[in-house]
Amino acid sequence: MYIAMNRFRVKAGMENEFETIWMNRERHLNEVPGYLEFKLLKGGEVKEGTEEDHTLYASHTIWESYDDFVAWTKSEAFRLAHKGAGDRKPIYVGGPHFEGFEVLLTESR
Ligand code: HEM
Repeated sequence: MYIAMNRFRVKAGMENEFETIWMNRERHLNEVPGYLEFKLLKGGEVKEGTEEDHTLYASHTIWESYDDFVAWTKSEAFRLAHKGAGDRKPIYVGGPHFEGFEVLLTESR
């Protein structure tokens, strides 16, 4: 199993705009082989430091395997889901930050 996360730093005051983009986006994941689950995560506000004030968000997806994830990134479904993503630079502090994880243990109640 593989988890892919993309972190976004959204400028203070732009949170509603960012969330509306995700609520209203075109959804293309359901038919993708190996896709299991998607979550949009909202973290805390960040006010200290050298960066502009922002709120942290992350997209979080779970895949059957790393290879399924990579295949999605090269697919038409990925391209369609991202066709508007590059036009919205003014709502972010910097670019997105990708992190991928191989799942070593899964434990649930
Ligand atoms: C390999 C890296 C990336 C991963 C894992 C990823 C993950 C995702 C996922 C899972 C979705 C939802 C797709 C759907 O529902 O069909 C999505 C949409 C979106 N992604 Fe990415 N993404 C990546 C690269 C990027 C980049 C570089 C940006 C640039 C800002 C971006 C911004 C967005 C936005 C704003 C949406 C909402 C859809 C819309 O624009 O209407 N993503 N992404």
